[in-house]
Amino acid sequence: MSRTFIVCGNWKMNGDTEQTLDIIKNLTQLPLDPNVEIVLAIPSIYIAYVKTMVPYNVALAAQNCWRTAKGAFTGEISGPMIKDVGAEWVILGPSERRIIFKEDDDLIAAKVEHALESGLKVIACVGENQEQKDAGLTEEVVTKQIKALVPAIGNNWQKVVLAYEPVWAIGTGVSASPQQVQEVHAAIRSWLSTNVNSDVADSVRIQYGGSVTEANATELAACADVDGFLVGSASLKPEFVDIINSSYFI
Ligand code: PGA
Repeated sequence: MSRTFIVCGNWKMNGDTEQTLDIIKNLTQLPLDPNVEIVLAIPSIYIAYVKTMVPYNVALAAQNCWRTAKGAFTGEISGPMIKDVGAEWVILGPSERRIIFKEDDDLIAAKVEHALESGLKVIACVGENQEQKDAGLTEEVVTKQIKALVPAIGNNWQKVVLAYEPVWAIGTGVSASPQQVQEVHAAIRSWLSTNVNSDVADSVRIQYGGSVTEANATELAACADVDGFLVGSASLKPEFVDIINSSYFI
């Protein structure tokens, strides 16, 4: 099964109009591997602005959305709004939303369902924390998080990318090793094969996220079950282009 490599840069709450110009300029001036699907998850307030300057082969994502299309939810944005300003994707369930904003599996599942109903594609994030890793619970935690999403995804697996993001590797400069990543990604595929079906297990793309840099991207990209990256801090830097191109010779 050949799965298109997909790299998403998640700017998180970073960037302003000036920095945005620099980042986009960098992406337009250097050759990007045409075989890689490229997504930028930018602060939603800048989506319409960035849409006017982004290269045709770069799609945009929102970093969050609410679970319903409209209503009295001050400060929230909906799937239809995200589509309306030109983004095709939304990231849901990243550790910061789970930990800082106390989003649980049920809320994340409701958001995934709403996003898919709105016609968006979803990058759904899962990952264990340090304590859970030390207790040997990685697979259990990650598959429980995915299990909660299965009813919400239904028959829409082709519109979903899973992102394995161990909490202990996010923003720490300590990436999981290629062996660790491959082991977890293979375990996710095996769980999907048993609990969803083998087609989904073979076809769903699984990104790795957590301190991906130009220095470790090629080695991580070479893992059989790594189908792309969700990149935080390095996506704000020129090295993001090298990360996009990291699977070129594989
Ligand atoms: P990082 O963030 O690349 O800065 O570690 C990863 C993420 O949270 O997507």
